[in-house]
Amino acid sequence: MKFSTPAEVMQHALALAQRGRGSVEPNPMVGAVIVDRELRRVSEGYHARFGGPHAEAMAIAAADEIPHGSSIYVTLEPCAHHGKTPPCAEAIVRAGIRHVVIGSRDPARHGTVSGVNVLRSAGITVETGLLAIPCKLLIRPFRKLKRTGLPYIHAKWAMTLDGRIATRTGSSQWISNEQSREYVHQLRGVVDAVVVGKGTAEADNPQLTARPPGPRNATRIVFDTRATLRHDSKLFQAVDDYPVLVVCGENASVENISRLEAAGAEVFRSPVDEEGRPDVVPVLEHLGQREMTNLLIEGGAGLLGSMLDRNAIDEVHVFIAPKLVGGRHALPSIGGTGIAEMPNAIPLEQLRTDRFGDDLFVSGLVGNKTYDE
Ligand SMILES: NC(=O)c1ccc[n+]([C@@H]2O[C@H](COP(=O)([O-])OP(=O)(O)OC[C@H]3O[C@@H](n4cnc5c(N)ncnc54)[C@H](OP(=O)(O)O)[C@@H]3O)[C@@H](O)[C@H]2O)c1
Repeated sequence: MKFSTPAEVMQHALALAQRGRGSVEPNPMVGAVIVDRELRRVSEGYHARFGGPHAEAMAIAAADEIPHGSSIYVTLEPCAHHGKTPPCAEAIVRAGIRHVVIGSRDPARHGTVSGVNVLRSAGITVETGLLAIPCKLLIRPFRKLKRTGLPYIHAKWAMTLDGRIATRTGSSQWISNEQSREYVHQLRGVVDAVVVGKGTAEADNPQLTARPPGPRNATRIVFDTRATLRHDSKLFQAVDDYPVLVVCGENASVENISRLEAAGAEVFRSPVDEEGRPDVVPVLEHLGQREMTNLLIEGGAGLLGSMLDRNAIDEVHVFIAPKLVGGRHALPSIGGTGIAEMPNAIPLEQLRTDRFGDDLFVSGLVGNKTYDE
């Protein structure tokens, strides 16, 4: 394979990196490509699983021979510290590669030593910032966890064209079509947890598992103030294989908590918000301490409202079905208090639109959240 431009090489490294999604977290996805002077591919690698070799080490190991004058392109600054694997910056020096092109700098601080410094001290030419934006966006959840200690929040819902996630009677199955729902299962298979409010758990009796399973086995989390979730619900049917975590308020009764624990759930008691419900901020801090990188909040309106009111949402995945249900009392996609003035509406960036059959799909990032500092 021969590339025509340096950007094309980095684009390929980005595509490789994505193969690690769902398997590498809480580590970042990283891809690396070694090319010769004429941008002919020598070898490539990516970080494939947590604790496994890093992308640069894979690429170096995959090369039979690294021709003089070769460069390594890597989506993220090579590490300089001894973690689960030896430092990649040193491996690059030892491999005799004299030119390194980096997409984005490492947001994780390990003392003062940086990969770029180690490489430059060894006399290697280092260029940074090639396709910096896509390289940063690729690891936005990792950046958030490292910079803030909080997991990255994906909000997902399916709505009718008139913006309802259920009819006035609470009926919501199904709004989106089978293809859309297949995509949701793919999302579930790469996140650390799938999260719903008690209302959704009661109305839909969902399993919240990824079918077919993905690379990651998500914990199912339910916000349930008084810990009164029915333990004969579908969530508890496969609790040994797919963990359930119930988040309750600090005043939930010991009997209720014990009943859920006996059914196989873990229970986290959280400080409550002004409405007496588990406060999302300490819950997210707790999940961040457990190194959960990506959470998929699947509704309903109440829980998504609490998340939006706390400015916790990072990315949305919305399925819009070509249907109308109307009804003043039919639920909107996001409840809570909401924004008072339209100029303060939360903007979305990096929009992606797609079609799943007749359903429209829109995803976007909540703007002004770069997690650079
Ligand atoms: N179309 C879709 O994509 C979609 C997705 C999900 C749900 N739905 C539909 O939406 C409906 C349920 O939505 P919903 O808004 O009624 O319920 P919900 O958001 O699923 O759950 C809200 C309930 O969760 C509990 N809770 C605990 N802590 C909370 C917190 N910090 N913030 C908010 N809630 C907290 C509260 O009940 P307690 O205080 O009693 O614990 C609250 O009443 C159902 O009809 C369901 O079918 C549709």
